[in-house]
Amino acid sequence: MVKVLPSLLASDFLKLGSDMKRMEEAGADIFHLDIMDGQFVPNISYGIPVCEAIAKKSNIPLDVHLMTEDPEQFVEEFAAMGVEYLSFHIEATSHAHRLITHIQSQGMKAGIVLNPSTPVEAINYVLDIVDFVLVMTVNPGFGGQSFIMSGVDKINELDELRRSKNLDFLIEVDGGVNEETGKLCREAGADLLVSGSFLFKSEDPKQTIMDIKEK
Ligand code: DX5
Ligand code: ZN
Repeated sequence: MVKVLPSLLASDFLKLGSDMKRMEEAGADIFHLDIMDGQFVPNISYGIPVCEAIAKKSNIPLDVHLMTEDPEQFVEEFAAMGVEYLSFHIEATSHAHRLITHIQSQGMKAGIVLNPSTPVEAINYVLDIVDFVLVMTVNPGFGGQSFIMSGVDKINELDELRRSKNLDFLIEVDGGVNEETGKLCREAGADLLVSGSFLFKSEDPKQTIMDIKEK
């Protein structure tokens, strides 16, 4: 069964605590936290102090998605908060192998993220050590964008690679996920589905999470 990860970027920040509670009660598996620095992507979201507040309040694991230059910064800070999954963009570093092992040495699962324009070949050399691969199905920086269909081929390609090479990394998908695009991702082999605007707009998030999981 896939896991559903509400992206807190889509919450009402003035009601972050109650939005988190609502998603936990609806059956959310993991919270997805988007860190944007205004450099790697043309937007700024929130930083370390807000993540610390979320970590204190959350009853489910946290998945931090760094959309930043210098993703090597702050690894220790996220580990100290008890973050379980930490991912960075391959486009933001030339030292992915070193960063993955550093994240893992801090007790976290390390993920590597592919922009829609970046081919799977760019991360071939770390597929044997990475814990998860995050396939972006929108250009990162904003919630509420439409799903880019070619992402489904990329999920298929990663799923085939992991079978043929007997690897065990998870496949996460982020951007424009709803019950229809989520189904395509599930069928292609995705394990973790992030949902922002679609899930937060729902009047019945419990049902929406179930729909993303199995409709
Ligand atoms: C986009 C972020 C996503 C975003 C997803 O840059 O990485 O996590 O919040 O939101 P939706 O589901 O609205 O595309
Ligand atoms: Zn994200």
